[in-house]
Amino acid sequence: MCGIVGYIGENSSKEILLNGLAELEYRGYDSAGIAVLADDSIFHSKAVGKLANLRDKTKDFEVNGFSIGIGHTRWATHGNPTELNAHPHLGEFSYVVHNGIIENYKEIKDSLMSEGVKFLSQTDTEVIVHLFEKNYKEIKDEFEAFKKTLKSLKGAYAILLITKSQNNKIFFAKNGSPMIIGTNSNELFFASSDAPLLGLANEVVYLEDGEYGYALCDEINLFKDEEKVDIQKNPLVGDKISAQKGGFRFFMEKEIYEQSEVLSDCILGRAMDERVDFEELDENFFDDITHIKICACGTSYHSALATSYLFERVAKISTNVEIASEFRYKEPLLTKETLFIVISQSGETADTLEALKMAKKAGLKTLSICNVDNSSIVREADFSILARAGIEKGVASTKAFATQVMVLWMLALYIAEHKKVISKENLASELKAIKHIPKLCVVKDSLHQKIRRLSKRYLHGHGFFFIGRDIFFPLALEGALKLKEISYLHAEGYPAGEMKHGPIALADANLFTVALMPKSLHYEKTKSNVEELSARDATILAISPEEFDLADDFIKTTSCEHPMEEFFEMMVITQILALEISIRLGNDVDMPRNLAKSVTVE
Ligand code: F6R
Repeated sequence: MCGIVGYIGENSSKEILLNGLAELEYRGYDSAGIAVLADDSIFHSKAVGKLANLRDKTKDFEVNGFSIGIGHTRWATHGNPTELNAHPHLGEFSYVVHNGIIENYKEIKDSLMSEGVKFLSQTDTEVIVHLFEKNYKEIKDEFEAFKKTLKSLKGAYAILLITKSQNNKIFFAKNGSPMIIGTNSNELFFASSDAPLLGLANEVVYLEDGEYGYALCDEINLFKDEEKVDIQKNPLVGDKISAQKGGFRFFMEKEIYEQSEVLSDCILGRAMDERVDFEELDENFFDDITHIKICACGTSYHSALATSYLFERVAKISTNVEIASEFRYKEPLLTKETLFIVISQSGETADTLEALKMAKKAGLKTLSICNVDNSSIVREADFSILARAGIEKGVASTKAFATQVMVLWMLALYIAEHKKVISKENLASELKAIKHIPKLCVVKDSLHQKIRRLSKRYLHGHGFFFIGRDIFFPLALEGALKLKEISYLHAEGYPAGEMKHGPIALADANLFTVALMPKSLHYEKTKSNVEELSARDATILAISPEEFDLADDFIKTTSCEHPMEEFFEMMVITQILALEISIRLGNDVDMPRNLAKSVTVE
């Protein structure tokens, strides 16, 4: 997601900001910009696309001596990736960069517009700078105006603001989005992660949610709830690659841990208290739609398959899911009342892209759910919803899968509401469950350690079966795919009830069964299927909130009421299991053999 940098000092702020943004490229972005305030003049520049475009646009700008500056890489959420929507956003005399989502921006914007304030962009961020200037005109004190602005904002943010009336200070705030301050003897830096600070700062201050303040080149004034906070400085150590990996051994591991945060980003401004809102879709989007067809490959196919149960069960709309490479050549019968959805992390998968083109040619309404804005699939589809997982580096997809499932679940509710097939009470309880998911996806150290210890027992054998029922069957498929991709061990996902129709013939002590046994959905039925395997001496790793005597190994999950809560918790466990087995086998977790992150060939 977006990246933020800031600088106060005597060195070239332009270079420091641009280099800092380059270190944050891994977070993903579609436009970038900087603003530099030296004496009383502000220079600012923004560009769509790669940082090279911004470098080119700013090549003639030089700053000598003291200056302050802010910079931003934007991953579009509200409004397209255009120069006007890129940050910094400007008012009459101030500039702001922001990471996160201001949930109540529409109310603030309407109220400011009714007072005659003109907006240049479609973003939620722009309200911050106008609100600040309005408050400043009333209060005549920059910091008080900034504090008053923060009090009006709901949502997640990391904010840097500079204003001509205070040309030596940066105002900052953090709530739910990352922000770090770096210092050395005579300079001060801001960044979204350690990476831009390495080699520049000696010490860092990790800001906590709810903290805000202002900084000068040699002074940080930090507050929380109106009280001054003592500054805790930590030495900055590490190299650039490990900084990008945030101290994790592999990007995949980091991405598993990031799931809680990106799921929060994914639902922000979408899962409201009483309804689901997708600003990407217009009011009449589902008029005349009687059927949904979803097309995707690999992990994205699994997210579609899992949520197809929800489209039928919750939204009462007939739904089928197809593997894109199969769909292309089956001479499918397509009807105009079908909404054609494609799912893709990269947005470049050749089979999915071609399937999308076929559907468009047949006159179907098309929607893509994608993690990369401006990708070929996003450009081709009539409508697109971004997954907001941030850039995913590990070839084996984890956080992209989590956000795809989340978007599709919210979409099922959106349709259910639109078709008036869900009661207010049920919708409210679904939304409550959605908001609980980020918490459930926080990886507990005890859980990770347990799986690490357990993994040494699963390095041999003649294969794995991941089994589950209902939505846990696609999760079993995904668990098996993760394991085979990075461990090179044979693994299959299977519907638990289908084992007796053939695969049970393989059961013996060297057949490892990973049994997904949720309490909230078909527990007794799944249990019977696992008992059948246990009776044939298969080795069972049971994942369940219920103790299960016949299991050789057992991972206890939280007892949750909603099956999707159990789904996300078990998803994390299967990902960590694959990761730890792969590490024990000495494999390259992030770049498994024979695989590519973006499959642009048929
Ligand atoms: C598995 C994985 C692949 C992709 C598949 C489709 O971990 O990443 O199975 O899911 O190649 O890719 P996208 O989602 O980019 O269309």
